[in-house]
Amino acid sequence: MEVVILKDADDVAVHGAALVEAMLRVKPQAVFGFATGGTPRALYRRLAERQRAGEVSFSRSTSFNLDEYLGLPPDSPQSYRAYMRREFFDRVDIDPAATHLPECAPGEDPQRVGPRYEAMIREAGGIDLQILGIGHNGHIGFNEPSSSLASRTRVKTLTPRTLEANSRLFDDDEFQPRLAITMGIATIMEARRILLLATGEAKAAAVAGLVEGPVTAMCPASALQLHERVTVLLDEAAAAKLRHRAYYDLAYRENRALKERFGDFYAAD
Ligand code: GLP
Repeated sequence: MEVVILKDADDVAVHGAALVEAMLRVKPQAVFGFATGGTPRALYRRLAERQRAGEVSFSRSTSFNLDEYLGLPPDSPQSYRAYMRREFFDRVDIDPAATHLPECAPGEDPQRVGPRYEAMIREAGGIDLQILGIGHNGHIGFNEPSSSLASRTRVKTLTPRTLEANSRLFDDDEFQPRLAITMGIATIMEARRILLLATGEAKAAAVAGLVEGPVTAMCPASALQLHERVTVLLDEAAAAKLRHRAYYDLAYRENRALKERFGDFYAAD
């Protein structure tokens, strides 16, 4: 696991965008896994700016989002499809037909969505770069604590803590779903590379569990310790509870020197 600690959330976005761009340089038809939430917003803004400046193009790429609420009316502004359009898809040159979320059509059996989504990811050749945030309770996607580390895309019941954290995005009289369809932890683990972003002190405990805690279903992000190529981008506040911080800084400097000499992160694939 590569842990990169940067000054602030802007630096996290700039650094994250550079890694997405590096992927696109090597593979313009890359398959991305996208995340929602407040954290990746600045990353999406930065990528949209870079696209407008002609520095990057998503025109040949495909995307699969981590999760989607279940039970929202079609065209709800609270859906993760609406979020992705607002924050990213409508701002870049990605083909809308190549953007996917685990959506359940009205009247469809939600239990069928997961296997179908998994098949679509397989048919696209698998995910090259999965972007992740992290919940206060260590969730990734909507894999709440106690999710099986072998889970696949499926319906999940959200915890009261997650409902509370996400309630800020819903008006008082608005329906807030208690269920979602999320990629499973095993689905996420199959991505070839993973980029997790976390900013702010409210994430510090979850980040400590992810990087330095035991691998446990009670902190689903800790499963990433078993993945070969994970980069964790943190601001100072999110890194505040890491015990081995000095070592991560040292290792990052050494790795950067190696990359400067021998080529970047993605070139070895
Ligand atoms: C949501 C999403 C996650 C996201 C997390 C953190 O519940 N399902 O994919 O990583 O919450 O969100 P935020 O970045 O807003 O803190």
